[in-house]
Amino acid sequence: MKSQEKVKQLIDLREKAREGGGKKRIEDQHAKGKMTARERIEILLDEGSFEEFDMFVTHRTEDFGLGDKKYLSDGVVTGHGTIDGRVVYVFAQDFTIFGGSLSETFALKICKVMDQAMKVGAPVIGINDSGGARIQEGVRSLAGYAEIFERNILASGVIPQISAIFGPCAGGAVYSPALTDFIVMSARSSYMFVTGPKVTKTVTGEDISTENLGGSQVHGTKSGVAHFIADDEEEGLLLIRKLLSYLPQNNLEEPPLVECNDPIERQADELNSIIPENSNQPYDIKDVIYHLVDDGEFMEIHAVYARNIVIGFARMGGMPVGIVGNQPNFLAGVLDIDASRKAARFIRFCDAFNIPIVTLVDVPGFLPGSGQEYGGIIVHGAKLMFAYGEASVPKITVTLRKSYGGAHCVMSSKQLRGDINYAWPSAEIAVMGPSGAVEILDGKDISEIKDPVKKANYIAEKEKEYRDKFANPYEAARYGYIDDIIEPRNTRFRIIRALRTVATKKDPGPMKKHSNIPL
Ligand code: HXC
Repeated sequence: MKSQEKVKQLIDLREKAREGGGKKRIEDQHAKGKMTARERIEILLDEGSFEEFDMFVTHRTEDFGLGDKKYLSDGVVTGHGTIDGRVVYVFAQDFTIFGGSLSETFALKICKVMDQAMKVGAPVIGINDSGGARIQEGVRSLAGYAEIFERNILASGVIPQISAIFGPCAGGAVYSPALTDFIVMSARSSYMFVTGPKVTKTVTGEDISTENLGGSQVHGTKSGVAHFIADDEEEGLLLIRKLLSYLPQNNLEEPPLVECNDPIERQADELNSIIPENSNQPYDIKDVIYHLVDDGEFMEIHAVYARNIVIGFARMGGMPVGIVGNQPNFLAGVLDIDASRKAARFIRFCDAFNIPIVTLVDVPGFLPGSGQEYGGIIVHGAKLMFAYGEASVPKITVTLRKSYGGAHCVMSSKQLRGDINYAWPSAEIAVMGPSGAVEILDGKDISEIKDPVKKANYIAEKEKEYRDKFANPYEAARYGYIDDIIEPRNTRFRIIRALRTVATKKDPGPMKKHSNIPL
């Protein structure tokens, strides 16, 4: 073959690979409102930056008539490119080839990009749209999955791993995304479950639709498996780009500092009156967050799951921070199982990737009741405590209002190595709220008063006594548990200055193989 013919052969083969499973299957994919693997990569990466690996790989199976049914790339498009000029590795499952099902060679392709991402110290983004294990390959496919899982585990805490779910993701295949740091699901075309509706019906008798079993709403609101729900795939891909802008490339880097045009000393007068007069009245913690962070930009994670705690990324003085805030607007901001798990995982992510944590406290305590106790609130609450206590990144805490009981200790208290702990004058830091305390301390006396008016007056008097003593920040400040009581409108400046002050902190803790977080 002449050299020009060889070049033409290469061009033709590349063209063939780009056709995936063929025009008809691409049309089917589009008809379902889904993009192809390559279209997704094009939106995800900086224009023209994608370099593909292993385009000429095909499967090695002869069984079930697959010998003469081979497609270039074998159902997954892999390679690297850049996002905002920074290197990322990517794999995108191609549903047009064998339904994106995972073969031995398909897995090897994914492992190759994961291995190289680890060597280079760059994030991996996986776009999932697959019918699961390639049935014709049997155990080789299962082994391929396990190879990927092991890499997910070893990469955890070393490089950011992000999963997009833009189609089916079922069976054991769900565990690779579950092992990654963030999962983005597209609202309509995606679903995830360990066991699908048919097997569920056979085994348990439960009749349930795909959507109700593992659709994006389920994972966004009930299970918390999905961190983000995007209206469509494009929104999901752009969201991943934005998410990465807060993250370092790996655990040895600092998160990327950007120029800050929002004055760091900007005061927010509204904050001086944001706490309602009645301490049982709700307000929106996100209103506080918007006032504090650069340009009011807050990337909320798990926005519709465990809404009694708010988590997400923002910048303060140009520096990425992880924000955790109790949400008085939802269940009074109480800590329950879901809220504890949600915040604990986020704190551990921030700690692994050197992202300082800013905690805004307004918590009435842990949610009481058999539902929580049977569900293991003891262990789940301990997770949050563990995550805070273990985190060695800068931790700045501001107590806005309530900080009661065990929840006070948990929420980045001084004793859990909080670096700088501020309180607003409206803070109430105590073992419990005044009414609960009076009931326990004075219940006997109260029950002996028969006249209802006298009883009410006595309770009010006792509650006032308790409130004057404990329902303020001064008692905690007297012991140095609170470093300073600050005017709410100055909070942005005080946090940024605190972050800059402790930016160089080193507090690694004792040597150990690893901790034993209460899972
Ligand atoms: C081989 C598969 C496949 C699979 C789909 N295809 N899944 N090929 N192995 N697992 C092929 C189909 O034969 C078809 O090929 C093409 O992909 C598109 O599939 P359709 O069924 O036409 O598409 P659709 O109607 O959209 O349905 C998609 C689907 C369905 C819901 C995903 O294909 C399906 O249920 N597939 C099987 C899912 C499954 O049970 N997987 C194993 C799960 S267990 P042609 O040539 O016609 O285009 C598992 C264990 C993992 O994954 C363990 C890890 C530890």
